[in-house]
Amino acid sequence: MTSTSPSAIDTALAMQFPDGFGWGVATASYQNEGAVAEGGRSPSIWDTFAHTPGVIADGNTGDVACDHYHRYREDVALMGDLGIGFYRFSFAWPRLQPDGRGPLNPAGVDFYERLVDALLDRGIEPWVTLYHWDLPQVLQDAGGWPERDTAHRFAEYATAVYDRLHDRVRYWTTFNEPWASAFAGYATGMHAPGIRDPEAALRTAHHHMLGHGLALRAIRERADPRSQFGITLVLQPVLPASQAPDDLAAARRLDLMANRIFLDPLLHGSYPDDFREAVSGITDASFIQDGDEEIIAAPLDVLGVNYYFRHLVRRGQTTEHVLPFVACEDVEIIPRGLRRTHAGWEIDPDGLHDLLTRLGREFPNMPMYVTENGAAFDDGAIVDGILPDPDRVHYLDGHFRAVHRAIADGVDVRGYFVWTLMDNFEWAAGYTHKFGLYHVDFDTQVRTPKSSAHWFAGVTRRNGLVMG
Ligand code: FCB
Repeated sequence: MTSTSPSAIDTALAMQFPDGFGWGVATASYQNEGAVAEGGRSPSIWDTFAHTPGVIADGNTGDVACDHYHRYREDVALMGDLGIGFYRFSFAWPRLQPDGRGPLNPAGVDFYERLVDALLDRGIEPWVTLYHWDLPQVLQDAGGWPERDTAHRFAEYATAVYDRLHDRVRYWTTFNEPWASAFAGYATGMHAPGIRDPEAALRTAHHHMLGHGLALRAIRERADPRSQFGITLVLQPVLPASQAPDDLAAARRLDLMANRIFLDPLLHGSYPDDFREAVSGITDASFIQDGDEEIIAAPLDVLGVNYYFRHLVRRGQTTEHVLPFVACEDVEIIPRGLRRTHAGWEIDPDGLHDLLTRLGREFPNMPMYVTENGAAFDDGAIVDGILPDPDRVHYLDGHFRAVHRAIADGVDVRGYFVWTLMDNFEWAAGYTHKFGLYHVDFDTQVRTPKSSAHWFAGVTRRNGLVMG
């Protein structure tokens, strides 16, 4: 027996995941790369937004972030230490197509080719997201996502990138979390581009869906048979506070504006019946043109599921939500008294199990990956070269068990990617919310493992959890 293979005791004790289960970590370009003015990259809406005084909690930007653009080899080595099979990351559109249209930027393509090759050399499968929120500013200046043309621009960009990299990248997803992108970016303005206009948010949500469908339609025509196509949604299970009709209606409304608004057009072929009525006080929804729903329902090979929280709701008077919802003014989200992460999110692993089983029932033939789940904690100090983070270990352990239960219940979940590899620029929270398996010292760029990194390496090695 070698020291790297699981011992007999390990194996006997392990709560085993299916053979070939995909363990990974997830990141995003603006949160990690830095080098915002190098290699021909143009500014994105996140550069503009983060440089606006007062919008980022600690006044910081992603100008340098984890400097992953220069340190990707070191970071791929960290991934090797974790023993993961997948790395989910996003392409920066302004790096690959700085003008938002036309030919790709050779230096941008070169960076991602080098990254992909470094991953493949370590036996790590790249899983790419084409849009994780960093729209080229030049397209925002032309109207941004509320404009239908941006969906066409996205399809053009996606196709050009696919043509260059499909020989090495098998897993392609279009958007990360259209809900957050549309509603935090355009309704509450807490994210870039900082717009507060519910109609613009709804138009954006639709144009994300349309851009997804147009991109898949264009790419499928030339698709490499090895390619797998999908999208990542952040899904938020909703529980009614009681069986009273008002509370049930409140739960249904939040489920519509968080989940069904995306799931239904993607996987059932049309917006939900209650959608147009729900948003009628904001828009006549005439931006949904004839034929759009057919485009959006382009066949998917995989569904990416991001899970962070679920909501308990009742009909209430509250008009203020911490999270960005539109058309939910009389839906009150009730705190449940559960432990919270440093981001203020209630910790609820059972919500992940319930979400996966719901999706499995509703879309029985759709393979799923948990493309993000993880937690920010107020991590302590580094001791002897490691940062102890028992809260994160406990959090991940609970969520892995929830996934394991969903699989045992017959749901086709094929992988799980921890958010995230290393502490990074957490959007409006700046560097104050730390989600990493590795600690980053942002003065020196030194990466230090947290105990969760060692623990996770044990999980990937055993492909399972120790019973307990
Ligand atoms: C998700 C985002 C990701 C990260 C995590 C904490 O909503 O997709 O970029 O910020 O939350």
